[in-house]
Amino acid sequence: TLSRQAICQLPKAELHLHIEGTLEPQLALALAERNHIALPYASLEELRKQYAFTNLQSFLDLYYQLMGTLKTSEDFRDLMIAYLEHAHDDGVRHAEIFFDPQVHVHNGLDYNMVLDGLLAGMQYGRENFGITSSLILCIVRDMPVEDAHRILDLAAPRADELCGIGLDSAEVGYPPELFDEVFARARAMGLHVVAHAGEEGPSSYVEQALNILHVERIDHGVRAIDDAQVVQQCARDRIGMTSCPLSNRRLQVVDDISKLPLRALLEAGVPVSVHSDDPAYFGGYIADNYQALANIGFSAAELAQFAQHSIETSFIDEHERQTLL
Ligand code: ADE
Ligand code: ZN
Repeated sequence: TLSRQAICQLPKAELHLHIEGTLEPQLALALAERNHIALPYASLEELRKQYAFTNLQSFLDLYYQLMGTLKTSEDFRDLMIAYLEHAHDDGVRHAEIFFDPQVHVHNGLDYNMVLDGLLAGMQYGRENFGITSSLILCIVRDMPVEDAHRILDLAAPRADELCGIGLDSAEVGYPPELFDEVFARARAMGLHVVAHAGEEGPSSYVEQALNILHVERIDHGVRAIDDAQVVQQCARDRIGMTSCPLSNRRLQVVDDISKLPLRALLEAGVPVSVHSDDPAYFGGYIADNYQALANIGFSAAELAQFAQHSIETSFIDEHERQTLL
């Protein structure tokens, strides 16, 4: 199987990464102090005890709380630069990065200030690490649908500075079909379309994401395996599936990484790839996710396939794609 060095040298794209999920606990405490935000944790040690998650919601509670420490354009720029430096070390050539502006706007921040900070960090990453990147605006599915429309109102004047729209946060009870009009609007704005589906929710949510939201990639998609027709459709239409093994284990989507349906998806011809989701919360960046698969017996050829799929199903233009492969 592949060495750590060989894993890092595989040309790969990061397609499932929440920038707010790269906020390390030390940085959250430092930002809380700098920005005069009260957190109910007296020390790093006390904060670290909060990372024993039992499900998606138990993680989201901490994730949204710590997101409240991000206040200034520089905070977002610094967060982005720290992430891109790490990604570069792991052999990421290109990253399509989620952000959750609805939450920041609810915290009183200006949408354009957040966007400017993130874009400044991305420019730094391009110039200093040679890593290209783009942004996917994630709709927070457990906030009201009207709120999703309001964030699109804010995003519309600068839609050309975004790459796509996504759908994240608490899944069960918030099926993709709720967002059909939001996603139709985003498609009309020229945005690429992805959605988290089948993480905790059923395969019918994956089916809705495909056929109602018209997504080009499924994020997680663990439960797609329960519906052979959904699997076939993903294979036929080359719908990427962005798997995040360390996340799925830490959020108890599976009790063991070996129980993820990765081989079955590969064998069915689905272009599944491997990513990090919220690395500051789940104990590893993208190379650590590849490493976890190598450790349970995924072969060099299988790991190379995941990396190749990440480039195939990315939204970079054809010419750029050829230069990465
Ligand atoms: N937001 C950040 N990480 C997420 C995940 N794994 N699932 C849903 N929403 C998220
Ligand atoms: Zn995610």
